[in-house]
Amino acid sequence: MWQLLARLARQLPGEAAHKLAVETLRWQLGPRPVIDAGRLDLAVTLGGIKFPNPIGLAAGFDKNAACYHGALRLGFGHVEVGTITPLPQAGNPKPRVFRLAEDHAVINRYGFNGKGMVAAAQNLQRRQLDAGVVGVNVGANKTSKDPIADYRHAVAALAGLADYITLNISSPNTPGLRDLQTAQHLQSLLSAARAGLDDAKVTRPLFLKIAPDLHDQDLAAIVETAVTSGVCAMIATNTTIARPSGLTSPHAGEIGGLSGAPLFAPATDILAQVVTHAKGRLGVVGVGGVASGWQAYAKILVGADLVQLYTGLALNGPEFPAQILQELLALMQADGVSNLADAKGQIPHATKAIEHAIRLSQTSATQPAKA
Ligand SMILES: Cc1cc2nc3c(=O)[nH]c(=O)nc-3n(C[C@H](O)[C@H](O)[C@H](O)COP(=O)(O)O)c2cc1C
Repeated sequence: MWQLLARLARQLPGEAAHKLAVETLRWQLGPRPVIDAGRLDLAVTLGGIKFPNPIGLAAGFDKNAACYHGALRLGFGHVEVGTITPLPQAGNPKPRVFRLAEDHAVINRYGFNGKGMVAAAQNLQRRQLDAGVVGVNVGANKTSKDPIADYRHAVAALAGLADYITLNISSPNTPGLRDLQTAQHLQSLLSAARAGLDDAKVTRPLFLKIAPDLHDQDLAAIVETAVTSGVCAMIATNTTIARPSGLTSPHAGEIGGLSGAPLFAPATDILAQVVTHAKGRLGVVGVGGVASGWQAYAKILVGADLVQLYTGLALNGPEFPAQILQELLALMQADGVSNLADAKGQIPHATKAIEHAIRLSQTSATQPAKA
């Protein structure tokens, strides 16, 4: 039944389908999978938080913290809500979300449309703490005169209601936001976020979400600044402004951030570079193009503690998180590992990790990968 509903939703324009999905989950409708891990252990601890499994819903789906309970019930080990800005804002003119069906991808230029931090805080106050891990992703308003101060305000308002905070400095749809990735701005941003935590009188792990469109030198500088500023984990990556050759959809030329299948390889490459620069001093969250268990496993082999996805859910429907978890378990079994710590970082080279995960998927009981 859920597959059928997902197929019907795909007939709607992208943003209408997104709204419908958020409403459905807000009412906690959807499949309720029971994942039997047997003797395998999917739990991950990062920043002192125990995640029941490594697969999370990436930011951008539950922008106003309206449906995280419903999303957790689909099987996600965590949900990252947001991006939440201090003030409500409308975002860019519609249409601003495009499905690239032929390319298994999406382009969006939402531009942080949202109800703002006060409305999000009200929703987060209804949190049942035993329902699962919720991270809060924050950003700056488009017309803010002091974007760095926006991060402080949002952190101060929301940190007490979150398990972790993500500073999103990588959306391509807010002019100037990605400039905060330069080492000099980053230091001020991280001090402002710490001040926000002090304002809220709480301590919370800070995650930093970066773009896939960074040069290695800049990436090295970001990682060093993150380490010295006490960042807990890097999230690699947000959507890309690049348009890889080979896209065939008529929407491929739309302005905005590209996500889904074409992002998988470049985002996994950036993840590998972050792991190399971090030398074990930071946690790492792998995001970008995950649409099957072997892709999640490849990111873990490269060194990811956690894996997030968004476009895979949009294109495959609500049974997708449970399917990924089942595939991940089959791959662990086929690889002879009983917990994720034994797999994490075993193949730090992205292409080799991907090849290994594809080979495993062809011999295990999962959906075989198309090489
Ligand atoms: C429609 C849409 C909206 C998004 N909005 C946000 C956002 O508000 N904040 C953010 O940090 N990332 C946002 N993202 C990026 C995702 O969190 C994720 O990093 C990216 O899409 C790559 O993962 P995927 O290929 O699994 O979708 C958005 C992605 C999509 C497709």
